[in-house]
Amino acid sequence: MSLPPVIAIDGPTASGKGTVASLVADSLGFHYLDSGALYRLVALASEIQGIDVKNGPELGLIASKLLILFKNNQIFLDGKDVTEAIRTESIGLRASTLAVHPEVRAALVDLQHSFRQSPGLVADGRDMASVIFPDAVLKVFLTATASARAERRYKQLIAKGISAKLSDLLQDLQERDARDSSRGAAPLVIADGAKVLETSDLSIDQAVSLVLDWYQSATA
Ligand code: DC
Repeated sequence: MSLPPVIAIDGPTASGKGTVASLVADSLGFHYLDSGALYRLVALASEIQGIDVKNGPELGLIASKLLILFKNNQIFLDGKDVTEAIRTESIGLRASTLAVHPEVRAALVDLQHSFRQSPGLVADGRDMASVIFPDAVLKVFLTATASARAERRYKQLIAKGISAKLSDLLQDLQERDARDSSRGAAPLVIADGAKVLETSDLSIDQAVSLVLDWYQSATA
């Protein structure tokens, strides 16, 4: 029996891949996996427990025991709504730091595979196409220039009433890009066969339609 199809969308931080991936999933009636949220959940859970970000084995244990629930766009950890708490810049940085540990990555593999359910899955992250779903029917590497991404993040924060400095955001995301791309375990790479989608000058709707067109062609 063949497994449900997967569309893998990878890319750097603040590239808009989450927005594009979830709209593509809605449009096709597919399930959606935000794999970055899992690393963020490990970051939050380990911070609460006071675990050092360098302690790979302990962090791996936490990752293997996460009690999480995704429900109607909300994320629960140990029964508590943490949807907003995992979206802060500091949790994002902590997630990127602890994601270098092979123990953490290994502990999250089965959980990620469990999202692959009928009629299909759109999964976004850093290693969806290269490691987690290498048999994805469509692989997209979604990116934008660092300055376009910093500007998007800046506007999102200001819209939420959170003060931010564009130059700090740019520096943070460049550091995060460097760490996510240079780590030994499952670095952010353009997977073999992936289509590159440069979104600096595209609207969200344009990016979504392109991915949907590519999917139609891939399955025709
Ligand atoms: O996509 P995001 O910004 O929510 O991800 C937060 C961090 O988690 C990211 O900087 C690196 C890590 N991550 C990863 O290593 N592998 C993934 N598939 C997704 C995220």
